Amino acid sequence: MNDLTPDRTTLDPIETASRDEIAALQVNRLKWSLSHAYENSPFFRAKFDAAGVHPDDFSTLSDLARFPFTTKQDLRDSYPFGMFAVPREKLARIHASSGTTGKPTVVGYTARDIHNWADLVARSIRASGGRKGDICHIAYGYGLFTGGLGAHYGAERLGCTVVPVSGGMTERQVTLIQDFKPRIIMVTPSYMLSILDEFRRQGLDPRESSLEVGIFGAEPWTNEMRREIEDLFDMHAVDIYGLSEIMGPGVANECVEAKDGLHIWEDHFYPEIIDPDTGDVLPDGELGELVFTTLTKEGLPMVRYRTRDLTRLLPGTARSMRRMEKVTGRSDDMIILRGVNVFPTQIEEQLFKCKGLAPHFQIELVKKNRMDAMIVHVECLPDHAEPEARARAAQELAHHVKSVVGVSTQVIVHDPDGVSRSQGKAQRVVDSRSA
Ligand code: DLL
Repeated sequence: MNDLTPDRTTLDPIETASRDEIAALQVNRLKWSLSHAYENSPFFRAKFDAAGVHPDDFSTLSDLARFPFTTKQDLRDSYPFGMFAVPREKLARIHASSGTTGKPTVVGYTARDIHNWADLVARSIRASGGRKGDICHIAYGYGLFTGGLGAHYGAERLGCTVVPVSGGMTERQVTLIQDFKPRIIMVTPSYMLSILDEFRRQGLDPRESSLEVGIFGAEPWTNEMRREIEDLFDMHAVDIYGLSEIMGPGVANECVEAKDGLHIWEDHFYPEIIDPDTGDVLPDGELGELVFTTLTKEGLPMVRYRTRDLTRLLPGTARSMRRMEKVTGRSDDMIILRGVNVFPTQIEEQLFKCKGLAPHFQIELVKKNRMDAMIVHVECLPDHAEPEARARAAQELAHHVKSVVGVSTQVIVHDPDGVSRSQGKAQRVVDSRSA
């Protein structure tokens, strides 16, 4: 893999600014953002009033802790347009999350929000090793999901030639990669594995492809998965994070030269880590729930939005802005088995230790003798399909999960292609307990 460390003169000045400069900018922008939310969104005005706080109570960064949290439920309760801070006619675009239960959550952007978003995704692609003039293949879904269009506008802003493929039609994805020769691909890591399978099915060597950089996000993935993808494709695999409530992709991104966690673009989003049970702010370095306040958003400003994503804040390295560690998982995806907390990413880590298994997996929760139990569904590699090899692999994975994660699990090794695939975000946990 080539060294893709960017020329520092091409970075935005704020990416290498001092911490004092960043903090001063954040204080100014937070003052604006809190006032904007209070003055223009009846939702935030009511919330601040109920908590007995006013934007004037904010003068230093630590004052932010006095303001109330916002949750996904707040967005659902104000469906569809109840939280916006500009008249509807001023919104240039709407996105929405599908929402597995109940109403979707709807978010809106002014033209300036979209402009800033494109700048931040452009910054993210550049941090990943992308450059003006690159061909960028976008296989994140286009539509109400923020992934496709968010990536698209950013890639255009950087000056890339964008191929807006969207998700699905995996055979065509491979054909287009072979024919157009993109240098960059933006896609969920789980769907990248399906693309990998398709390369092999067509008898192509993925290491010979034109791809040099993959910008993977929208779901948790591990460093073990990174190593696998980097090795199999001979490309850099870089993590991009974001959520529609705060913007979409490009809230934070890794730097290709360090790959040591994701720099949060702190000039637009102020991060905090809280104890999810008490709501107390935790010091940098401690694991907890990530909370964001937007600093520049006009259409839908967010004050202390609880992401439910678990991570920790770390000091800057390749850039001055703080990093967040790779997300362990969402608190919603945490499985509690006999008192032990289990995240799908922990299973993923163990899976990569087992030689004869493909990297696809799904966790099924079942009831056994009225107790919750977990089955891990995996699949064998084609050259490890005989019964003894499968039994060995199942035993090996169950052993690693027991000794490292601390829970007993049944492992079922399916045939190649036996685990269901996603064309976007993978569904890692299936709950069959009421079945
Ligand atoms: O997934 C935005 C996005 C699109 C990010 C493309 C990156 C690339 P939502 O659909 O609103 O937005 O889902 C947001 O996905 O709260 C996390 O739980 C999860 N997530 C997003 N990026 C990562 C990541 C988009 N890099 C939710 N690692 C977030 C782990 C991620 N989880």
